[in-house]
Amino acid sequence: MAQGFSREPGTHGPLSDVPTRAVRKISLWAVAIALGGFLFGFDTGVISGALLYIKDDFHLNSIQQSSVVSVLLIGAVVGSLLSGRLSDRIGRRKILALVGVAFLAGTAVVTFAGGFVTLLVGRIVLGLSVGAASATVPVYLSEISPPAIRGRLLTLNQLMITVGILAAYLVNLAFASSEMWRAMFAVGAVPAALLLAAALWLLPESPQWLITHGRAEVARRGITALIGPDAADEVVSRAQQRMADDRETRKQQNEEQGHKQLSAPDVRPALVIGLTLAAVQQFGGINSIIYYAPTIIQQTGLNASNSILYSVAIGVINLLMTLVAIRMVDRIGRRPMVLVSLGLMAVSVFLLGLSFIVEMGSELTLLFMVVYIAAYAGGLGPVFWTLIGEVFPPSVRAAGSSASTAVNWMSNFAVSLAFLPLATVIGQGETFWVFAVICVLAFAFVVKYLPETKGRDDEQIDRALHQRFGSRQPHR
Ligand code: BGC
Repeated sequence: MAQGFSREPGTHGPLSDVPTRAVRKISLWAVAIALGGFLFGFDTGVISGALLYIKDDFHLNSIQQSSVVSVLLIGAVVGSLLSGRLSDRIGRRKILALVGVAFLAGTAVVTFAGGFVTLLVGRIVLGLSVGAASATVPVYLSEISPPAIRGRLLTLNQLMITVGILAAYLVNLAFASSEMWRAMFAVGAVPAALLLAAALWLLPESPQWLITHGRAEVARRGITALIGPDAADEVVSRAQQRMADDRETRKQQNEEQGHKQLSAPDVRPALVIGLTLAAVQQFGGINSIIYYAPTIIQQTGLNASNSILYSVAIGVINLLMTLVAIRMVDRIGRRPMVLVSLGLMAVSVFLLGLSFIVEMGSELTLLFMVVYIAAYAGGLGPVFWTLIGEVFPPSVRAAGSSASTAVNWMSNFAVSLAFLPLATVIGQGETFWVFAVICVLAFAFVVKYLPETKGRDDEQIDRALHQRFGSRQPHR
């Protein structure tokens, strides 16, 4: 039903197709769902400030410090893998409620941690929650969105991630002088409680999930309340038809449920897109640059006294450019945005690397870094999460999102492990060139394989994917 609100499938259904009241309501749900994105940003961002004080309180050596940071990434890989199947079984709404509970539990453990081991346990629980949230949010958002504004609503996920990162930096800043690291963590309980409350009392179950589980009448009632009975009938019967076709294809291919379905030939193009972009989003170097930014800024000769303040500045640029992306994604489309983004990222990170190798002046180094972050935030960053919600057919959407998200977290972990050793061996500037090469390769991949998904329903997206990959679409 995700693709169902516009009356004519395939047109870029103008927003007026959907009553304004319905758009408002759906947007409110979308913001509530995207609280999962906020927690993702907050819990990955808060540690940089908190660790400065924890390491002294708990006398942590450097290996212990990096474990406290990276164990969350490992938890997130596991959380995203587990959540796909679970969300198919119990529904999108219930899994977000569980995620809210897990976030609260993890937050409590890290806030009251008495030592290193408890802290690690709390970070693992937070990681599981972040992973499950990051895989579920794009699916849920996609399934409540009319096509005309689907890009915008899916991009909201990245907006909330960047708001969460920025909020974490501001919280770090607020509690830095009093060194209250426990308070830094504790703030996360507020959005976690809001997410739980929204899942319990505000959000409707995904209509697509209801239809898949034989509860079309419940879905119909909900959609009727939004867009009226005639349009609702049309939406539900199209979704049912699509479901039946999808099931038929699976039966013909004799596939099992869940992740195994992902290897079916008809899903392969979507899977290649999901997994490749997941890896590229991380191997393009974004987190190395974001976390390295304060050091780079200090090297430019600016006042070195407050690295948290620099992080805030980077967070603001990241956030502002994501706002720009939200405005553009349903107008100019995903493909041009990703291409411009990767192109600019490649050029700016190449020049950034060069500025470390030949003397160029600190202002230029700063400029290249800002352009790189803005280029990421205006395209690849948000559009990756948009595409994850769009490219997979409904019956494997949760499994596809879960696999892609897991690869994103694994790649995040791999880059964070490899960055410093690589910079030591081949040089800092040269390491940035590796990121540049990855962006160029990704650009070529997107030119060849990524179809435009803007305004299209999932059947059309499927067809476009198969055309790009030159594979035959199974009979629907
Ligand atoms: C990525 C994160 C990254 C963030 C930066 C997200 O889309 O998945 O790894 O830290 O963007 O804004």
